Amino acid sequence: METNDQQWQRSIPGGLIHPNEVQVWRAFLDLNKAPKESLLGTLSADELSRASRFRFEKDERRFIGARGILRQILGAYLQKPPQTLQFQYSSNGKPILASTSGDDSLQFNLSHSDDVVLYAFTRNRNIGIDLERIQADVEIEQIANKFFAEAELKAIEKVPESKRNELFFQYWTRKEALIKATGEGLSFPIETLDVSRVDGRVLSPILLPSDNGERSRWYVQDLLPGPGYTAAIVVEGGGCGFSCWEYCG
Ligand SMILES: CC(C)(COP(=O)(O)OP(=O)(O)OC[C@H]1O[C@@H](n2cnc3c(N)ncnc32)[C@H](O)[C@@H]1OP(=O)(O)O)[C@@H](O)C(=O)NCCC(=O)NCCS
Repeated sequence: METNDQQWQRSIPGGLIHPNEVQVWRAFLDLNKAPKESLLGTLSADELSRASRFRFEKDERRFIGARGILRQILGAYLQKPPQTLQFQYSSNGKPILASTSGDDSLQFNLSHSDDVVLYAFTRNRNIGIDLERIQADVEIEQIANKFFAEAELKAIEKVPESKRNELFFQYWTRKEALIKATGEGLSFPIETLDVSRVDGRVLSPILLPSDNGERSRWYVQDLLPGPGYTAAIVVEGGGCGFSCWEYCG
């Protein structure tokens, strides 16, 4: 699917996800208002405890809103009350559905930036998603030197200065989505991964250094989450179709 086809149709979650399908949901949180009771009331005791530990109220509201909506969407897919769902976490903190959910094929990942949240859902394959606001006031050179591959640095240098931040965040989201799909988080040597040759308009293979030039099992595509933001999704294995939905709960 070309990124231009991303329509973000407004919808209420429900229905099925087929094995070769990826559904992406976008939600906007109102961080100026206390979270709705209907979302707050679905969180587990450990989620509420985590929420209460955020230093800033906006971060607490973002976590509650994003988790609450995650539970609503998963509950709709699984036909279960959102508050009955249980999560477990990988050693690097990636949340997955606990086996008690009754459907261990359903995979998901989410990313939030400011008041926007993106969720990705699929079946039987690992998935990662990353969303970033394209910030103008970031010292990209310093960060890129630490986390980007040589080819990525060269590609950023080549574009006009006005486009550099956009390209920086595009590469950043591709790299982050990959480490979120594998679940490795910060343990992945991110500077050894080159995403500059990827055609992000379509689902394209992303070669890992450990692939030694062989076929990759990971595929990446850029998303168009809205003006001022960039995002990417990584799925295990290719050949799947995307649909993009706007959450209205
Ligand atoms: C989770 C992580 C992988 C991404 O965090 P982030 O970009 O700050 O935050 P995002 O909003 O994109 O994602 C957070 C969500 O991802 C999920 N998550 C947490 N740990 C995860 C992991 N190891 N793998 C996949 N998903 C994870 C959670 O659902 C989390 O949301 P929650 O806290 O509300 O439950 C972060 O721990 C990290 O390692 N960042 C790497 C930073 C870096 O140096 N990047 C260089 C890239 S060039």
